[in-house]
Amino acid sequence: MVYMAGVLSFIVSCSFTVFYGYMVLAHKPAEVKDGGIKYKYHFVLVPEEMDNEYWRLVEKGAQAAAKKYGVLLEYVGPKQANIDVHLKTIEMAAVSKVDGIMTQGLDDQFTPLINRVIEQGIPVVTVDTDTENSKRFSYIGTDNYYSGYLAGKALIADTKGHANVAIITGSFYKNHQQERVKGFKDAVKSEKGIHIIDIQESEISRVRAAEKAYQILQNHPNVNAFFGTSALDGVGIAQVVEQYKKPGQIYIISFDTLPETLEYIRKGTIQATVVQEPYEMGYGAVKLMIDLINGKKVPSIVHTDTRILRAKDLPLTRGDKAGGGK
Ligand code: BGC
Repeated sequence: MVYMAGVLSFIVSCSFTVFYGYMVLAHKPAEVKDGGIKYKYHFVLVPEEMDNEYWRLVEKGAQAAAKKYGVLLEYVGPKQANIDVHLKTIEMAAVSKVDGIMTQGLDDQFTPLINRVIEQGIPVVTVDTDTENSKRFSYIGTDNYYSGYLAGKALIADTKGHANVAIITGSFYKNHQQERVKGFKDAVKSEKGIHIIDIQESEISRVRAAEKAYQILQNHPNVNAFFGTSALDGVGIAQVVEQYKKPGQIYIISFDTLPETLEYIRKGTIQATVVQEPYEMGYGAVKLMIDLINGKKVPSIVHTDTRILRAKDLPLTRGDKAGGGK
């Protein structure tokens, strides 16, 4: 019986793959013209927040690949994180019959929309955040669970297994943020000396992250470590910690390697950060889309590199080459 169910689900999933593969191939990209330049394809990249340095790096990578492959690439979406605007932008891109959409799969609302877009014959690749249960063709980005797990292990090593931790996360409801928090919790759960005291949401805003860090320090004077799970959380936390605490009193582990984060690492305010590869995500997403449209088989998941970076991994001054300059 179980065997039959397995066979049945395999057949169903194969026929979906063949069906949607056919739909994509049925969509023939037309040559597009913009400002007198001819392009072979027209793709849209819809980020969670356009005016975010992290997403500008994803865009930079995507534009570099777009240039190489003759793609007109549009970067559109909410200026500041906003799920409704994000969903609407995907919908509009589909209505205008672009050749491919690259976006995140932030929560359950994205799954039916992505499926609908694919049913219309427009391929979708998820970037940075996946919605595995949708029919998206491929995901490219960090293994978000693993990156949170790495952060937990780094915190244990750096605090010798003793810390009262507060977590500031971009969102309680978005897939990538939930996975990072889960990975972190799993990494520390068997450590008797690590206690998670509080968890708050920043709505991926640096100002909100600072406000939450301040409240946490007020409400829980025993907190001596912070984990920030999205790109601007670490800098928000660091700002408050520098103002209200003595150097060395609070341990901070953050996410991403934006210039300000690296500056705080150099100063010793942030001790470690989780590296992601936004440029590679953008570049790779465009490449995956080209392969898809040309009928090549693409992997369902492409994990970009993730690792921990500490001050010792950085050159001494900004602009120096790693390994020391002349
Ligand atoms: C995440 C992005 C998010 C950004 C917010 C990054 O760590 O990977 O999905 O939009 O933080 O600043």
